[in-house]
Amino acid sequence: MLSETLVQGQSLTDKALERLLPPATQHPTSIHRAMRHSVFAGGKRLRPILCLEAGRMISGTLPESIEDLGAALEMLHTYSLIHDDLPALDNDDLRRGRPTCHKVFGEATAILAGDALQTQAYQVLAGLRCPAEVRVRIIEEIARGTGTIDGMIGGQVVDLEAEHSPPAVETLEYIHRSKTAALITASVVSGGLYAGANDDAIAKLRTFGHSIGLAFQIVDDVLDVTQTSAQLGKTAGKDSAAEKATYPALFGVDESLKRADKLAGTACAALDEFGYRAETLKSVARFLVERKN
Ligand code: IPE
Ligand code: IPE
Ligand code: MG
Ligand code: MG
Ligand code: MG
Repeated sequence: MLSETLVQGQSLTDKALERLLPPATQHPTSIHRAMRHSVFAGGKRLRPILCLEAGRMISGTLPESIEDLGAALEMLHTYSLIHDDLPALDNDDLRRGRPTCHKVFGEATAILAGDALQTQAYQVLAGLRCPAEVRVRIIEEIARGTGTIDGMIGGQVVDLEAEHSPPAVETLEYIHRSKTAALITASVVSGGLYAGANDDAIAKLRTFGHSIGLAFQIVDDVLDVTQTSAQLGKTAGKDSAAEKATYPALFGVDESLKRADKLAGTACAALDEFGYRAETLKSVARFLVERKN
C-alpha cells in the first residue's frame, strides 16, 4: 500500500540520516546543529523513497543498506534547499514548517551547512556497500544530476536569470528539468544501479525519472499558487511575487496540472515491462502529482 511505502521509506531514511550525520554535540557544534535543523524538519523524503523503490523493483526485495544511498540523496536535496532559500537566491524565511537555516544560524553558517551536507553526502556514497564499480557509477550519476550541465545547479542558475521576464517555453522546461528532474532522475537511476540493474532497465528508470521529475516541479509551481503557507510549510505565492518562470504563469493552473498528469502517464508507461513489480513505483509517481504539499 502507498501509505506503508511512504512511511517505511521515511522511517528508514530518517534512521540512516540520524546515524550518518555528525551529532549536534560534535565540535564545531554550530554547523552540525544547522545541518540537523534543516534535515530533521519534516521533509517528505521523496527522493530516498524513489531510490529505495527503484532498488526494490529491480531486486524484488529491498537491497541491503540501500537506505544509506537514500540518506545521501536527502543530504544533497536539503543542501539545495538551504542554498535556494538564501537571500541571494529566493530569499525565503520558512522551510519545512520552520524558519530557514540562515534565519536561525545566520547566512555564513547556512552557506557552510549546505556545503557540509554536500561533502557529507559524498563521504557516505564512497562507503556504500556495493561493488566498487557500481559505487563509482552511482557517484558519477549523482554528481552529474546536481552539476552545472543539465543538473541542479545549472537549473538554479537559469531559474535566477529568468526572473522578471516571460520565459520561452524551452527555457522553462530547461529550468525544471535541470533544477529538479535531474536529481530525481539520479535518485531513481542510482537505486537501480545499487540493485544491479542492467543497461536496459537503467534506461527505463531514466525515462521514468525524467518525466516524473518534470511533473514534480510543475506541481510544486501549482501548489505555490493554490495552497497556503501553513499547508506547504514554506511561503506560498512567492513565485509570482519574485516573477519566477513557472508553469502556471505561462499556462495557467489547469493546463499545468494536465501536463503533469500526462507526464506521470508517460513515466508509468516506461515501467510497463516490469509488470506487477513496478506497481509501487507507479503509485509513488501518481502520488507525486496528486500531493497537496
Ligand atoms: C522542494 O522539494 C523543492 C523542489 C525541488 C520543488 P520537496 O517538495 O521534495 O521538499 P521537501 O523535501 O518535502 O521539503
Ligand atoms: C527549487 O525550486 C529547486 C531546488 C533545486 C531547490 P523552488 O525554488 O521552486 O523550490 P521551493 O518552492 O522554494 O521549495
Ligand atoms: Mg528557487
Ligand atoms: Mg525556492
Ligand atoms: Mg517552488
